[in-house]
Amino acid sequence: MDVLLIAAHASLTLLSTRSMAVRTRSNMMLLFLCVLHSSAVFSRAAAGCGSSRFTPRMTFKEDGFSRHHLLGGYNSRVELLLGPTNGTVYVGCNGKLLLVDFQAPKKSEEVTWGHNVTVLLKNENTNSLFVCGTSGSQICCSMETLGNCSKHYDAKGIAPFSVNERAPSLFVGGELYSTATLPVRKRIGIRRHGGIQIWPAHNKTEQRYVSIVLSGPRAHKLEDRVYAFLVEKNSDSHPDASLWIPRVTQVCRMDLGGSKNILQQSWTSHLTARLSCGIHEKRVYFTELLDVAVLHSEAWNESRVYALFTNDWNMSAVCVYTMGNIDKVFMSSTFKGHSEEIPTPRPGTCVNDSKMLPDIVLNMVKEQLEMNDWVQPVGDGDALIISSHRYTHIEVDRVKGSGLQVHTVLLLGLEDGRIHKVLEQTGIPFIMAELQLFQPGARLLNMLLQSSRKKLYVSSNTEVLEVDLDSCMNYGNECELCVQARDPYCGWDPESMLCTAASSHTIQDVEHGSYTACRTGGHSEQYSRLENPPLPPDTDLPVTYVRCPMLSAHAEYSWYRGDTRQPCVYTEGDCLLLIEAMDQGQDGPYMCKATEAGYERMIAVYQPKTWSKATCSARSHSGILCALLLIVLLL
Ligand SMILES: *[C@@H]1O[C@H](CO)[C@@H](O)[C@H](O)[C@H]1NC(C)=O
Ligand SMILES: *[C@@H]1O[C@H](CO)[C@@H](O)[C@H](O)[C@H]1NC(C)=O
Ligand SMILES: *[C@@H]1O[C@H](CO)[C@@H](O)[C@H](O)[C@H]1NC(C)=O
Ligand SMILES: *[C@@H]1O[C@H](CO)[C@@H](O)[C@H](O)[C@H]1NC(C)=O
Ligand SMILES: *[C@@H]1O[C@H](CO)[C@@H](O)[C@H](O)[C@H]1NC(C)=O
Ligand SMILES: *[C@@H]1O[C@H](CO)[C@@H](O)[C@H](O)[C@H]1NC(C)=O
Ligand SMILES: *[C@@H]1O[C@H](CO)[C@@H](O)[C@H](O)[C@H]1NC(C)=O
Repeated sequence: MDVLLIAAHASLTLLSTRSMAVRTRSNMMLLFLCVLHSSAVFSRAAAGCGSSRFTPRMTFKEDGFSRHHLLGGYNSRVELLLGPTNGTVYVGCNGKLLLVDFQAPKKSEEVTWGHNVTVLLKNENTNSLFVCGTSGSQICCSMETLGNCSKHYDAKGIAPFSVNERAPSLFVGGELYSTATLPVRKRIGIRRHGGIQIWPAHNKTEQRYVSIVLSGPRAHKLEDRVYAFLVEKNSDSHPDASLWIPRVTQVCRMDLGGSKNILQQSWTSHLTARLSCGIHEKRVYFTELLDVAVLHSEAWNESRVYALFTNDWNMSAVCVYTMGNIDKVFMSSTFKGHSEEIPTPRPGTCVNDSKMLPDIVLNMVKEQLEMNDWVQPVGDGDALIISSHRYTHIEVDRVKGSGLQVHTVLLLGLEDGRIHKVLEQTGIPFIMAELQLFQPGARLLNMLLQSSRKKLYVSSNTEVLEVDLDSCMNYGNECELCVQARDPYCGWDPESMLCTAASSHTIQDVEHGSYTACRTGGHSEQYSRLENPPLPPDTDLPVTYVRCPMLSAHAEYSWYRGDTRQPCVYTEGDCLLLIEAMDQGQDGPYMCKATEAGYERMIAVYQPKTWSKATCSARSHSGILCALLLIVLLL
């Protein structure tokens, strides 16, 4: 569409220009520049040239992705679970269950189950699949073979009613913790099934559960807790009040419920606290929690919770909390609405036999205890990332890079299926790359990280993809380019002379991306020499162009003739030098240089000597330009 519009616009303008008999070559040149700059397609890319550090440094369209198409139409929900062997993943969608094998696609299995899958878990205790689905009514069962229920379970409070309801659930030692809403909007919250059943005690305003995780294992099993992350509709209807309140709740794993009179079969350890996310100094706050990823640590209290928020302006924020921090709020904050002395044991303490808890404690918990203190993000208490992109999904990976240093990488998904690979650092986040996984119009529905194999599984409404996070070739075939990428998954291998998956002997500088790291080896002086600039057939052409590929959106690109800087026209991936025909005889060479982080690099050299005929390439933007040139020619 854009192409047609641009072309039409160009030809119209050119026509009128000609009729006014002012068809000079420099006018043509000007027109070119104007047309190119006025189009949205080009100006967006041009903005990327401005070295905005919120822009992904590089963009990859085809780089280590394997695809599996989900036949049978458009899905509104796709559940993902790692399969029994490397490279396999269970998929539940649109009445079907699949075991997709990315290593041996022919071995993939698919069965029709007849229910839309809403829960897909592995029960480690029985080593079977636990699957729930809906098809008007709800069903939950365990499966030894795909699609074949070997044992049925009561789906009440486990399986969501609709494919549109998200209700995260979790197996801990054979017991299932779920968060599905019951039909009558009552008693929403965490439920435990299998073993001793425990139900939520409260009926609250609307809640949406985002994630449920085990906070542990701790030194004593008695201390293990389960945390749920959720948003709750704000009951304050003041126009300035936020619509949602982000919260974390805790329950103890060993909770047996209350006494016969108070909280029988309900949680006696249930506490709730508010999550804070924003920038205090600027009074910017984020309240709509969308997704949570947990980076587990050996010490349970050092495990980090990465919470993704959005606000009314579709901005995003990522705030990081430690489990230790959350625990501290539950264990030491005062309780909302309670000024009297806190009874013993303190409400929320995990005890051996909660049925024996004193009435004063049980009665307090029954009131839906909330902490006065909010859980604050780590560091200076501000968000780790604030972005104008509206991210919807988050995964977080700990990456052991070159030299065995450990770095954290965030994988942030946008609704349209683009994934940003972001290096965690203080200050402005560094977006190493944007992966464009889907065709236009597709929607990102789910993301699943397999950290041990550095794979990210991503589903849209029509396909499931396996993405190699340590696919590094596209960063470039020079040590400097590999190092400037600052990607801890990647490093320069001085032996094979390739940018490759990081190992103990690869070269990388994640902290600074300084090309000087390459001094010890692997430096090369290659650049492309453009001998044949594309030129439409036949002569009498006022202008031609040569392309300088812009690999990094963080670099500055310029064309030079001698020491004179020549203006260039930015297109989606190139910095184009337009050369008027009458200039052709002039001395070259023309050189394109890129400067990034103090490293100047020659990208291309063009020596105008012989103009050879070239045919228009039909590829992407160069096609557009070719079309433009042809139009000029036809006139
Ligand atoms: C599954 O959900 C889709 C809508 O997302 C619906 O068209 C289809 O009939 C459902 N299938 C079953 C078996 O319920
Ligand atoms: C499902 O289980 C039944 C009974 O155990 C068995 O006969 C059938 O072959 C199984 N189907 C599959 C696809 O495994
Ligand atoms: C909440 O529960 C109380 C008693 O348990 C009941 O009186 C009230 O109607 C319930 N509210 C809702 C919204 O279900
Ligand atoms: C935010 O995004 C949603 C969905 O993508 C859209 O419907 C809405 O209009 C956007 N709001 C603003 C303020 O841009
Ligand atoms: C975790 O616990 C250890 C030992 O109790 C303590 O030194 C450390 O500060 C704690 N970390 C956090 C993040 O709470
Ligand atoms: C809980 O019970 C176990 C064994 O039954 C015991 O060793 C432990 O000391 C008890 N803990 C508390 C806090 O009472
Ligand atoms: C699966 O991948 C892991 C991590 O790369 C590897 O250690 C393991 O050997 C693989 N297993 C098989 C059966 O290939």
